[in-house]
Amino acid sequence: MKVYVTRQIPQIGIDKLKQYHDVDVNWDSVGLSRDQFSAKFQEYDAIVTVLSDRIDRDLLSRADHIKVLANYAVGYDNIDLQAATEYRIPVTNTPGVLTESTAELAWTLMFAVARQVPKAEAFARAGRFEGWGRSLLMFLGDDLSHKTLGVVGAGRIGSAFARMSRGFDMKILFTANSPKPELEKKLNARQTDLEELLTQSDFVSLHCPLTPKTHHLINEKALQLMKKSAYLINTARGPVVDELALIDALKTGEIAGAGLDVYEWEPKIPEELRALDNVVLLPHIGSATVATRNRMAEMAADNVLAALRGEKPPNCLNPDIYS
Ligand code: GLV
Ligand code: GLV
Repeated sequence: MKVYVTRQIPQIGIDKLKQYHDVDVNWDSVGLSRDQFSAKFQEYDAIVTVLSDRIDRDLLSRADHIKVLANYAVGYDNIDLQAATEYRIPVTNTPGVLTESTAELAWTLMFAVARQVPKAEAFARAGRFEGWGRSLLMFLGDDLSHKTLGVVGAGRIGSAFARMSRGFDMKILFTANSPKPELEKKLNARQTDLEELLTQSDFVSLHCPLTPKTHHLINEKALQLMKKSAYLINTARGPVVDELALIDALKTGEIAGAGLDVYEWEPKIPEELRALDNVVLLPHIGSATVATRNRMAEMAADNVLAALRGEKPPNCLNPDIYS
């Protein structure tokens, strides 16, 4: 059968698919247009998608040839899952394998913004370090140890992120859709509502999926609830934050800073945001380690292979279509 991969993924996944099927890969760095997608949906049996591919109801309604859409990501807000289910197209993701990598990147952002790492690094790299003088006063930052850490969405990634706080003796507040007794037991952690978390935390890190309920969860009002000394970290999805409200809050000192890996209008990062020096900006690299990306590629391939054998794929997001 024929498999189309919409963007370059690690070769290990492509090789796996090639053992059984004809595989074509879009080697361009730009994604497919809608028309190109429509055409691929006619021609191929399976598509490996990335999170910037918007697969909406209209495209899915013309996808009767497609036997599986394998998203190369844990998040799947880019695919209209309900429509896919109605059209009986299995959709899969890559959960679990990127949990630690993404959690570690949230920590990276926390340290980077609280200790002004990018600014200080640029200073050193530019040859401006001339000793222990006045200029170094501009790099005075904040500690993480013993602070209060707010975890918005203690799912797999949020829980891993919270567990990594152990060495820093932090107080953990978290929101979650269900009780997390193991977190409360193992850590100095307490489940709260969002309002209490925002009010009390020194660092607020977002780990919820993007859904209609979490769209603009962090809006102007939420930012006002945060301490003026607090930092916001987002490695989840851009539209969970009202980015214009965030830019205002960063400009006016409503919060101290932000560390962002994702953006509301990704891949566009507003000029105004890029001009601020109390933000650290990364280009959506949460899962970007060699080992994790390899595992994601293999997992996406395994999902495709199972679906093309007529089996329910291991990471099926809409298993109801098989019952
Ligand atoms: C990355 O953002 C993912 O959802 O895997
Ligand atoms: C979220 O925490 C996930 O891994 O899906």
